Amino acid sequence: MRLYDGCILPRLTDLAMRLRILQDFRQRTLSRAEGAVLELGFGSGLNLPFYNPRRVSRLFALEPAAALLRLAQERIQEARFPVEVLQTGAERIPLPDHSVDTALCTWTLCTIPNVEAALDETRRVLKPNGRFLFAEHGRSDEPGIARWQDRLTPAWKRFAGGCHLNRNPESLLKGAGFDVEQIDKTYIGWFKPITYMYVGRAAPRARFATWVPESDASAACMRPAGTSRRFHTRLPGGGSLALCNWGNLPCRIRRSLRVRPPRNGRQVAP
Ligand SMILES: C[S@@+](CC[C@H](N)C(=O)[O-])C[C@H]1O[C@@H](n2cnc3c(N)ncnc32)[C@H](O)[C@@H]1O
Repeated sequence: MRLYDGCILPRLTDLAMRLRILQDFRQRTLSRAEGAVLELGFGSGLNLPFYNPRRVSRLFALEPAAALLRLAQERIQEARFPVEVLQTGAERIPLPDHSVDTALCTWTLCTIPNVEAALDETRRVLKPNGRFLFAEHGRSDEPGIARWQDRLTPAWKRFAGGCHLNRNPESLLKGAGFDVEQIDKTYIGWFKPITYMYVGRAAPRARFATWVPESDASAACMRPAGTSRRFHTRLPGGGSLALCNWGNLPCRIRRSLRVRPPRNGRQVAP
């Protein structure tokens, strides 16, 4: 298996991921990337020609597999913006908090071993007003096909570099604290278990811990994400509002903060 994983699989991945049918998804996803961009699972760099060099200021190309990065070298040299390779898994991203404008991945969430940790990390490094773009295959919405995906995944992932057929990118993103703003789901081939695509855009959700009088609950929830780290204020109709954006606060401060509910208030789940 070592020969297969080290030599054959990277070349097979590079070949398979060049399929023409995937290019339209690359185009749709990458043309929306802007500013400082983090690409998870950069692979052999097949996305590079699809970035708009006028919109991208720099690219952090995160990829753990040395063999795939070797295949990417030529494309990296041809890039018209700076590319910094991060040779590591997405479970620990060596970038500061809130440092990228766009994070994205194409056909990668299926493969990352600890995908929940990777999405938590992505959310940490993404700016509060940043966007997560994705083109991923995953679990079908048809129960019959999903059952086949569950059956096939144990064998499939042994030969496909750890790829799961049955992960649901939409649920994973929501579970990691993203709001999925736009999503298209469609089959792109006749063999349904491996061709169900999820393509779209998500935004990091601010984690509010909020107590407000019943009547003002919806107003508090509508406050735009990332606009305020913490404030206490009196509401016009009496009572007080304590609002924290937990996502922006370091753990030490988070633990020491006390948010007191006003009388007759109810908690709005973060
Ligand atoms: C099917 S390939 C897709 C490659 C590339 N995104 C593309 O569209 O051509 C899956 C990629 O996920 C990468 N990968 C595996 N484990 C990973 C991890 N822990 N963190 C980030 N990427 C990982 C693989 O090395 C591989 O490059």
